[in-house]
Amino acid sequence: ELPALSDLFGRFHNYLRISVTERCNLRCQYCMPEEGIDLTENDKLLTTEEIIRVAKIFVQQGVDKIRLTGGEPTVRKDIVELIQGLNELRPLGLRKIAITTNGIALRRKLPLLRSAGLDGLNISLDTRDPRKFELFTRRKGGAHVLQAIAEAGKLGFQFVKVNVVVMRGMNEDEVPAFVEMTHDEELDVRFIEYMPFDGNQWGQKKMVGYRDMLDSLRKIYGDNIEQLPLEDNHTTKGYRIKGYRGQFGFITSMTHSFCSTCNRVRVMADGNLKVCLFGNTEISLRDLLRSGSSDAEIVSTISQAIKRKQRAHAGIDILSQLPNRPMIKIGG
Ligand code: GTP
Ligand code: 5AD
Ligand code: SF4
Repeated sequence: ELPALSDLFGRFHNYLRISVTERCNLRCQYCMPEEGIDLTENDKLLTTEEIIRVAKIFVQQGVDKIRLTGGEPTVRKDIVELIQGLNELRPLGLRKIAITTNGIALRRKLPLLRSAGLDGLNISLDTRDPRKFELFTRRKGGAHVLQAIAEAGKLGFQFVKVNVVVMRGMNEDEVPAFVEMTHDEELDVRFIEYMPFDGNQWGQKKMVGYRDMLDSLRKIYGDNIEQLPLEDNHTTKGYRIKGYRGQFGFITSMTHSFCSTCNRVRVMADGNLKVCLFGNTEISLRDLLRSGSSDAEIVSTISQAIKRKQRAHAGIDILSQLPNRPMIKIGG
């Protein structure tokens, strides 16, 4: 019999992404509509105890990496306690606790998060220009994010990842400047192809494929661009400039998807399990938790959902027509 976290295509899911809130202190245009979203009522969101119980069940089945997402995970009031709770799952096999954050409110919280057990930090920043930051996020605060990135290095977070969603006419001209951030700092800057989600007005013309970005970098750096070996279960095609301390890469979900080695499942703030970023079959773990189900019953439901995971997403031409959640409710 297949392990609970294996699917029918031989993929074992050892990486759980948990969205801990639907709220955010920014309003990024590629993530949510201007008017906002309908928030799930508070009593339908997972409590911290429920999140820890779900995480424990997954870790007992073989999950060794958990990433907290949102919305913006740092706006959750008990984010530090949550990480402490996850940290206690290490003896059961959890090895990595990471977070993906917009960095706005991060600097103050970083030392606490670090001592609670956080060991991986991905920070979203799409532009280094404060005015463009307002266009992207409909809010101010770019300088705070740059400060948080600098601070994270000092606190001993290794290879902080900077996520840059590239949109045509918005920031593709900044790609080289982002690469230059890797000159002196051990950063991993990742350029992300713009993906379609409900309410984000995606269009293929607004997307910049990674080949175009790489070609324009080759005009600047020529043979000094070195390709790095692909990591297991990668989302990123990694590169570095010879002699630079950091590295950069491309998350090519749209032009070269990486579904065949996908090892991720997601639990969202409302307790729904989502087995593919672009899949819309969901099951409610919250209802199971609240109806007194045993761990074994929950494992069995998770297993059945994972067995329904498709081989790959539907492809660039179809994805934008399929219903999905808005990104802010998925967490990436
Ligand atoms: P690592 O754990 O560091 O590998 O992080 P990550 O790159 O998977 O996660 P992050 O939250 O930093 O997300 C970066 C980008 O990758 C976002 O645009 C995500 O939506 C995208 N991404 C993350 N997981 C998946 C996935 O399973 N499929 C696809 N297509 N994109 C993903
Ligand atoms: N396409 C690609 N990446 C996106 N993100 C949010 N929305 C999109 C989108 N439409 C990124 C954020 C964050 C990560 C969780 O997902 O910038 O870094
Ligand atoms: Fe907030 Fe992140 Fe979505 Fe932007 S991408 S609106 S920062 S959750």
